[in-house]
Order: sequence, then structure tokens, then C-alpha cells
Amino acid sequence: MSITILGIESSCDDTSAALLRDGMVLSNCIANQEAHRLYGGVVPEVASRAHQKNIIPVVDLAIKRAGVNKRDIDAIAFTRGPGLMGSLIVGVSFAKAYALSLGIPLIEVNHMQAHVLAHFAEDPKPPFPFLCLTVSGGHTQIVLVRDHLDMEILGQTLDDAAGEAFDKTGKLIGLDYPAGPIIDQLAQHGQPVFDFPEPQISGLDFSFSGLKTSILYFLQKKKNETPGFIEENKADICASVQSRIVSILINKLSQAAETTGIREIAIAGGVSANSGLRAALEKTGKEKGWNTYVPKFEYCTDNAAMIAVTGYYKYLKKDFVSQEVAPVARWRV
Ligand code: KG4
Ligand code: ZN
Repeated sequence: MSITILGIESSCDDTSAALLRDGMVLSNCIANQEAHRLYGGVVPEVASRAHQKNIIPVVDLAIKRAGVNKRDIDAIAFTRGPGLMGSLIVGVSFAKAYALSLGIPLIEVNHMQAHVLAHFAEDPKPPFPFLCLTVSGGHTQIVLVRDHLDMEILGQTLDDAAGEAFDKTGKLIGLDYPAGPIIDQLAQHGQPVFDFPEPQISGLDFSFSGLKTSILYFLQKKKNETPGFIEENKADICASVQSRIVSILINKLSQAAETTGIREIAIAGGVSANSGLRAALEKTGKEKGWNTYVPKFEYCTDNAAMIAVTGYYKYLKKDFVSQEVAPVARWRV
């Protein structure tokens, strides 16, 4: 008997719906919210209003593209958290109402667990146990993945996330939000000639706030000495920032691989789209004999396919929740 799952994601600023049949992605539709560019970051109130507007059209499109009848959906998997409360409420309320109307079960999904399981939306799938570096706008974690639903966080950021480090630095350079992809583009035309310090944090935890401050002071000093410094050196500044963020991530990942003895290494989350990180992972992987796994771009950033995939493994365990479920802004795996 085949199993069809509808996945719903609305934790931040992307409204997404996906259909999955027997673990295979049939459709994955995403409505991005461009409005936040104007404000230089995600505005929670604007995000929840846009989710409200987009959710039904996105779900309808995902069902149409998948070519399934909504009566054939067996369960609805939705992001319960972590995320912005106003954004989560839209997806959770929609999922509850839709499940009620179709008379099918509800499956709660942790957004961070789903980023890891994005690796199971396509082949090759990493074998267990593997390490996953999940790097997004809200989180930076090294996760030990023992099984689909058995994960342990080995290290995480003590302050900013890696994506925030990109976005906040980009703001200092005068780039639009989200600055991560723009820094990535500009860095390809520059050299990492400016040396920003690597934070000294013990164990497998991360810290990016000191890096942001040192870049702020560096730019202030250079601007005072040489007006027009940022404009003239934009590509080199971006290459230097990216190079340091990537080295911080890769060094901790190497340390985690060494202490656990695990050589199956995956990356996930929006920042895993970064070309510098991908190249560094490949290079380090070759040197250290790792097998590396990087999801397709559409499964790196926020998407409902990863929610449906997580929902599928929970469906197999009949791990359902009642209609009383409510969103949670903070939720550790
Ligand atoms: O996973 P995601 O889509 O949303 C969250 O759950 O946060 O990640 C978004 C983050 C943003 O900070 C964005 O700047 C960053 O991922 N990002 C990138 C790139 N593409 C997206 N950062 C660096 N290089 C990229 N190519
Ligand atoms: Zn995310």
C-alpha cells in the first residue's frame, strides 16, 4: 500500500507545500517573500500576513503538480517549530483544519530535524551513523545522526547563526537582505586578503558575534582612512568574510569527525548552498577520506519536501499528534 504525505512549512519567511509518495518527492512548491528585502531582515508581522495569503494557493499548486487527488493523502506533516510564532501559527492552523476536513492524521515535525532529513529526499542517502552540519539563518549545529529519528546535537552556536553572520556582515558592507547569496557571488571575483580572527571556542560549539564586531571595526577604520574603501574592495572583503566563516565551520566539523571517528559527513540548511563551503567540504573530505553529502539547492533552503520526508518516517512509526497540538517557537531535537 502506498503512503502519500502532504508537508507544510511556514516557520520563517517561506511558505511551502510538498507531496511525497513512498519517500519520493512528487512536488515541492515554495512562495518566497520578497517584501523583507526592503527592511533588511525578516519582519515577523509581514511574514505571517504573507503566509496567510500564500498558504492555500501553494498547497493547491503542490497537489496539482504532484498529480494526486487530495482524497489520496494519508497524513499531513507540518513544522511545529522552532521558528517565528506568527509564521508557525499559519501553517499549524492550516494543517489542523485540512487534516480535520480530510479525516487523516497529523504529524508534528521539528524544522531542524527536517533540515537533516532533507538528505533523504534524493539519492545518494548518507548511511548511519553520519554527522550533519546544519547551517541556516537561525541555527548552526553539528548533529550526530544515528537513525532517521535518532539525533544528538554535539555542538551549536552560542550567539549568531552562520547565516546571520553572512547577513549581518552583508548589511555592514551595504548589501541587501539576505546577504549570504550576494556575498557568495561577489566572493567569486575576489581574494581573501583581509584576515579576520578565528574565535577560540572550546569543544564543538560555535561563536560568530566576535567576528561580526571585528569586521565592523575593520570597516569603520578603513572607511575613515580611505573614503570609498568598501566600494573599491567589495569582492575581496566578501571573499575574506566567506573564507573565515567557512574555515570556522570546517574546522569544527573536522574536530567532530575526529572525536567521533565518523567519516560520513553531510551539510544542510540555507548556508550549505554556499559555494565556498561546498568547495571546502569537498577539499577537506578528499584529504581526510570522508564521504560527503550536499543536498540539491531546493532542499538546502527552507522547503516542505524535507518536512514531508520527516513526516514519512514518523508515519511509519504511527507517531501522530492530536488536534490540540500548538506551535512552539523553541524546540530542541
Ligand atoms: O535554511 P534557510 O533557508 O532558513 C532558515 O531556516 O534560516 O537559511 C537562510 C540563510 C540566510 O541567512 C541566507 O543568507 C543563507 O541561508 N544563505 C547563504 C547562501 N544561500 C542562502 N549563505 C551563504 N551563501 C549562500 N549561497
Ligand atoms: Zn531552515
